[in-house]
Amino acid sequence: MARTSRLPGFRDLPVDQRRTAALEALGLEPDLLRPLAEGADAALADRMVENAVGTLGVPVGVASNFAVDGAEVLVPMATEEPSVIAAASHAAKLARERGGFTTSASDPVMQAQIQVVGVADPEAGRVRLLEARDELLATANAQDPVLVERGGGARDLSARVVPSRAGTYVVAHLQVDVRDAMGANSVNTMAEAVARRAGDVAGGRALLRILTNKADLRMARARAVFDAAALGGARIVDDIVHAAALAEADPYRAATHNKGIMNGVTAVVLATGNDTRAVEAGAHSHAAASGQYAALSRFEKNGDGDLVGSLELPMPVGLVGGATTVHAAARAAVALLGVETAAQLDRITTAVGLAQNFAALRALATEGIQRGHMSLHARNVAASAGAGPDEIPRVVERLVAEGTVRGDRAEQVLAEIRQER
Ligand code: MEV
Repeated sequence: MARTSRLPGFRDLPVDQRRTAALEALGLEPDLLRPLAEGADAALADRMVENAVGTLGVPVGVASNFAVDGAEVLVPMATEEPSVIAAASHAAKLARERGGFTTSASDPVMQAQIQVVGVADPEAGRVRLLEARDELLATANAQDPVLVERGGGARDLSARVVPSRAGTYVVAHLQVDVRDAMGANSVNTMAEAVARRAGDVAGGRALLRILTNKADLRMARARAVFDAAALGGARIVDDIVHAAALAEADPYRAATHNKGIMNGVTAVVLATGNDTRAVEAGAHSHAAASGQYAALSRFEKNGDGDLVGSLELPMPVGLVGGATTVHAAARAAVALLGVETAAQLDRITTAVGLAQNFAALRALATEGIQRGHMSLHARNVAASAGAGPDEIPRVVERLVAEGTVRGDRAEQVLAEIRQER
């Protein structure tokens, strides 16, 4: 059977059967997702962090319908927020009508900064650093022969003069191709190794030596076309363009718009055991790259009147090192995605961010987001009011029909249902 990310009836299955159905759809072995059922144990937690006392289970769901660069992809998403996974799946379904998502990525280049203080002639200090480029790169590469053997390593050195309230600094940037790693460890080790010499060459003293999370040399991009007729017509296309334009012009709206993108991005980053804070820091610093915080994505109407969405952001995620290597559930999520390189993970994650963003804008430009949120939210409210598994659907149905999804009303409805029995 051909691989497919279309999973009709998926949401009606019990949780364990969903795992099997997802794996069957991709032709993967049936046990692959077992670690996701088992979660993390205390021993693993103890190896991963200090003073471990346990683990916190975050739900992992599978977003369906994704076609990314022609490949059928099921996407594991770890999130506590209702509606996110359904929204991504729905957006992917619409996108696939016009060929799905097209993605690309730059080389996986991360940068470390070395701050040099006390330079009397910072402009000349910057130039002296650039003169020492080959020597500094050689020292950096000597720190990680395995990375160099795999085709990565320190590629270039740049230098800036940064005036500040406490003095003017010369700041060297070591640019390192980290291949399939997120790269923080390699880059920080290299920066520490070259720092003293960089300080001497620049004519001052090296102080900070650390990766920058403004990972703007490691960019991923996704784009997709959404059919105007499938969206409900030209007016909706125009309204989504207006919604996106506000986020380009207004930082208050941009923060929420980008949060919607990160609902998708962070969920994939977390499910695959990557560093969510690194990706978020990269995204938000990029959103402010022009000097004003703005939307990360763009939405336009193309020549056929269809909606075109595009998204470009730094994507520092990896497959080797870090939690992705040690956490069996993260490895299972990576196996479900079927990615073999960090670049593939970068690209799919960006496609999910675009899908999530489109879904939010579409809801906001039409019926608003509360209706979609309502029934999942109502399930939580019903459960908190004490409804058992067989009572929850009836409580939810009444709460949603009434449009009153509140704890006090859920308790009343539950009492009514119990009396009716
Ligand atoms: C909610 O988690 C995300 C949204 O607010 C995003 C947006 O407003 O674009 C719906």
